[in-house]
Amino acid sequence: MKILVVGGGGREHAIIRALKKSPLCTEIWCAPGNGGISYDAHCKAIPATDVDTMVAFAKEEAFDYVVVAQDDPLALGMVDALAAVGIPAFGPDKAAARIEASKVFSKDLMKKYGIPTAKYETFDDPAKVMEYIRAEGKYPVVIKADGLALGKGVLICQNEQEAADGVKEIMLDKKFGASGNHVVVEEFLTGPEVSVLSFCDGKTVKPMVSSMDHKRALDHDEGLNTGGMGTVAPNPYYTPAVAERCMKEIFLPTVAAMQAEGCPFKGCLYFGLMLTPDGPKVIEYNCRFGDPETQVVLPLLESDLLTVMQATTNGTLDKTEVKFSDGAAACVILASGGYPLAYEKGKEITGLTAGQLDAADVTVYHAGTAIKDGKLVTNGGRVLGVTATAATLPEALKKAYAASESIHFDKLHKRSDIGARALAAMQ
Ligand code: AMP
Ligand code: GLY
Repeated sequence: MKILVVGGGGREHAIIRALKKSPLCTEIWCAPGNGGISYDAHCKAIPATDVDTMVAFAKEEAFDYVVVAQDDPLALGMVDALAAVGIPAFGPDKAAARIEASKVFSKDLMKKYGIPTAKYETFDDPAKVMEYIRAEGKYPVVIKADGLALGKGVLICQNEQEAADGVKEIMLDKKFGASGNHVVVEEFLTGPEVSVLSFCDGKTVKPMVSSMDHKRALDHDEGLNTGGMGTVAPNPYYTPAVAERCMKEIFLPTVAAMQAEGCPFKGCLYFGLMLTPDGPKVIEYNCRFGDPETQVVLPLLESDLLTVMQATTNGTLDKTEVKFSDGAAACVILASGGYPLAYEKGKEITGLTAGQLDAADVTVYHAGTAIKDGKLVTNGGRVLGVTATAATLPEALKKAYAASESIHFDKLHKRSDIGARALAAMQ
């Protein structure tokens, strides 16, 4: 099969590496891809959001299957557009992608179907938002812009003044664009966070191994929110008892709700959960693989990824085995100094050969790299994800950190405490 993966980050690199293990995969492309991905796949410089050009390219090259890995092309209906020209694709259609693309849609869905989540109200009038927040009088309070805001449209406000400033930023100054026309105001929840990615075919849901993201830029969960500075899998807080409860109270009801709403979900449904004192609750849904969760989840997948993906498209997931190893994985992100704010690009990366390290059980996934004048250089905020697998989490972390020491570029920044919380929870 000739496969196209749409996107160009570490997640896409991890998907490509997993797909290449499939005996069914004979040729693999990535659009737009990146410098490091070009060692593993043919890259084509089409922006992931350019649906028309992407679909025309897919048709011209006669791809057998397309994996739409990124959120915005899914929200724009790339899977629908591919289906219209007869090309099957992995990922939800436009209607089902609303589960991530619209917080109002997902919150209303959870309310209607009794799926546990933070208590909330939605608003389109800035004056009404503040009226509600003042009347509730509970801080911190969480304010979320409705649409896709690159993970940055969530404000946690400690007092009335911060809430008023936040509402102004989102709804009046439109800091996150049109996604600020509607906001969700929700109660602040506490507890460990768990990411559970799952395969869905519209009716059946099969969860993958659990993982833990590290969203803040600096050690001890300080600094700004980022796309993710590192991940570990499995997540020790996600015990078999918690998993059973999540399946019953969250996963199955969500899949049934999407079916009942006439938009069955096919692809990877990501449950962002918080294990609160009142039980597991949904913080957010994503309509795609997480980044950098994928970089620790897929290396532990023992089943054939392409076969499982096709089963989600064909509706045969109930008959398809999805098996993970009992081991552990850790991913340490090497970022450009300054990320998630301004950072420089074009710094030469040393220590890698053809984008990889020669170390057992270690893979370097490329998030933001380019090849310039024959040299590998930085080209994004998150640059590389150094991932190691091992029998246990402490070993995986040790290997990932040791490997990351051999890679250098100017102003490299990484957290030094990825997995620390997970290890503490295992004591
Ligand atoms: P989201 O983009 O919805 O995942 O939110 C980003 C991050 O903000 C989450 O990973 C949580 O750490 C935090 N967050 C979001 N909603 C809440 C909430 N209701 N209570 C506490 N923290 C939250
Ligand atoms: N790592 C969080 C996300 O992919 O949204």
